[in-house]
Amino acid sequence: MRSIFLLIILCFFSCKTEKATKNNRGLIAENAMVVTARIEASEIGLHILKQGGNAFDAMIATELALAVAFPFAGNIGGGGFMVYRAADGKTGVLDYREKAPLAAHRDMYLDEQGNIIPGKSTLGGSSVGVPGTIAGIFAVHEKFGSLPIEKIIQPVIELALKGVVVTEVQERSLENARDLIIQVSGENTLFSLPYKAGDTIKHPAFAETLQRIKTTGKDEFYRGETALKIVDFLQQNGSIITLEDLEKYEAVWREPVRFSYKDLNIISMSPPSSGGICLAQILKMIEPFDLKNLGHNSAEYIQLLTETMKRAYADRSHYLGDPDFVQIPLERLLSDSYLKNRMADFSFEKATPSSEIPYGTIELSGEKDETTHYSIVDQFGNAVAVTTTLNGAYGSKLYSQELGFFFNNEMDDFSAKPGEPNMFGLIGAEANNIQPEKRMLSSMTPTIVEKDGKLWMILGTPGGSRIITSVLQTLLNVYEFEMTMQQAADASRFHHQWLPDEIYFEDDTIGLETMQQLQNKGYSISLQKAKIIGSIAAILVLENGTMEAGADRRRDNAAAGY
Ligand code: DON
Repeated sequence: MRSIFLLIILCFFSCKTEKATKNNRGLIAENAMVVTARIEASEIGLHILKQGGNAFDAMIATELALAVAFPFAGNIGGGGFMVYRAADGKTGVLDYREKAPLAAHRDMYLDEQGNIIPGKSTLGGSSVGVPGTIAGIFAVHEKFGSLPIEKIIQPVIELALKGVVVTEVQERSLENARDLIIQVSGENTLFSLPYKAGDTIKHPAFAETLQRIKTTGKDEFYRGETALKIVDFLQQNGSIITLEDLEKYEAVWREPVRFSYKDLNIISMSPPSSGGICLAQILKMIEPFDLKNLGHNSAEYIQLLTETMKRAYADRSHYLGDPDFVQIPLERLLSDSYLKNRMADFSFEKATPSSEIPYGTIELSGEKDETTHYSIVDQFGNAVAVTTTLNGAYGSKLYSQELGFFFNNEMDDFSAKPGEPNMFGLIGAEANNIQPEKRMLSSMTPTIVEKDGKLWMILGTPGGSRIITSVLQTLLNVYEFEMTMQQAADASRFHHQWLPDEIYFEDDTIGLETMQQLQNKGYSISLQKAKIIGSIAAILVLENGTMEAGADRRRDNAAAGY
C-alpha cells in the first residue's frame, strides 16, 4: 500500500520534470567551455583560457578553485582522475588517486573479532588516504602546461581571500555535515559555524597554503613546511600517514580504457577506477539491442540496462583493484565472446536474480553525490574530463584550521573485509584489499567520446557507485534518444549495482505503470534511498562546431564559455 502511494507521488513529479526540461539547451559557446559544480570554478577555468591558457592550465585552476567554491568535494586533500584528448587526437589519463599509507594493513579497520569498527574507515584521521591532488596538478603542468604556474594559481588565491557565497544547496550540505565536522574537527574551525544561503565564506588559511605552493611547487605539499604541518596534524588526529608517505607519492600517467560503441570511440578511466571497464562492458552488452525501439526509460529499456549493470558490477566486485597490485583480466572482461556469454541467460520475460550472478548479499546505505566532476574544452581543441573527490561529503570531516582544507576518507573505498559493504554498499574481494601504497578501487568515470573520429562529448559525474550508470545513461540519452546535452543531464536516471538486488529510481522519475511492469517481472524497486542519482557536468560538440553545456540542475552545476 505504502509502495503504491509512493509510486503515485513519483508519477506526479515525473510529469513536472519532463515538462520543465523539454527542448532545453544548455549554454552554447563558440570557442571554449568549462562546466563544473560551481559557477565560481567554471569562471576561473574560463579566465585562464581567456588569458591564452589551454585546457590543462584551466584544469589546474579549476581543480584548486573547487577546493574553495565547493569544499564538499573539491579538494587538495583528496585525489582524482583526468582523462584527456589533446587537439591532435592523442588521448591519455592521469591517476592522482590517494594511496594507502605505508603502515596500512588489510585488517586495519577490523576489531579483534574480525568485525568492522564503525566509523574508522570513514571519519577522522584513520580514514585518510595519502592525498594526490597537488601531485596531479603539477604532473599536468609539467606535461601540458602553457602558462606559468603562478599565473594559474593566483586567481584561486584571490577567490579564497574574497570568499564564496553560500547557495541553498550548500547551506543544506553544510548543515547535514556540521555535527560530524564538529565531532571530528572540534568547535573552532571555519566549517563548525552555521552558514545560511547568502553568507560569504572566506578562506584565508587556504590562501596562505596556496601561496606557499605557488612559490615552492609540489614539494611544498609533499616535503616542505606544508608537508610537516600535514603530518603533524594528521598524526594528532589518529592517522598513520608519515612524511615518507608524502615523499613517496607520485601521480601516474596510465593508458585509458578505449572501446567502441556503434560509431562512437569512447575513452574512459582505467583501473584503479572500475569506471571505464564497467562502462565498456555495459555498452558492449547492450550494443546488439535496438534501444530507440525500446523507448527511453520504458520498462524494457530499464530492464535491459539493469541486467547489464548487474553483470558488470558483479565483475567489478570480483576482478577489479589497483593494477599496480592485482592482475586484471582486461582483455577477457571486454571481449565480445565473454560479454555475449554473460548475457546468454538474459530474457525480457523476467529478472535474472543477482543471486544467480555469483557473490553474497548486502545492504546499500543511503548515499549522496559527494565527488565532483568538471569538463573543459579549450579554444585549441584540447579536452579534459576530470573527476575529483574527498570521497564522502567533506571527506573524513577532518578540517585543518591552520592549512585551510579537508582531508579525504578514501580508505573506505577499499574492501575493509571481503563481502562487507562500504559506504556505497559496494562489496569487494581480495582484488581490492588494503595493502601499503595500494590505490583503492574507484567508480569515477571521467569520459571523452569521439564521433566520426572527432571530439564529440566530455562528461562525468559524482555519485559513488552510481557514477558509472549515470555516465552511461547520459551518453545514451544524447546518442540514442537525440536529447540535447542539457536534457540528457537533467533526465531521470536509475541505477542497479548487482547487490543489493534492487533498481534505484530518483524521487522524480519513471511513472507508475513502468514500475509495475518491472515489479511484475520480478524486479525489486527502491523508491526511497537514492533521492538524486549523479550530477552531470558535460560538454557536447554540436554539428556546427559550437559547444553545448550539460550542467545538471540537480545541484549548483554551472557552465561558462565564450
Ligand atoms: O572513487 C570513488 O568511486 C568514490 N570515492 C567516489 C565518491 C563519490 O562519488 C561520492 N559521491 N557519492
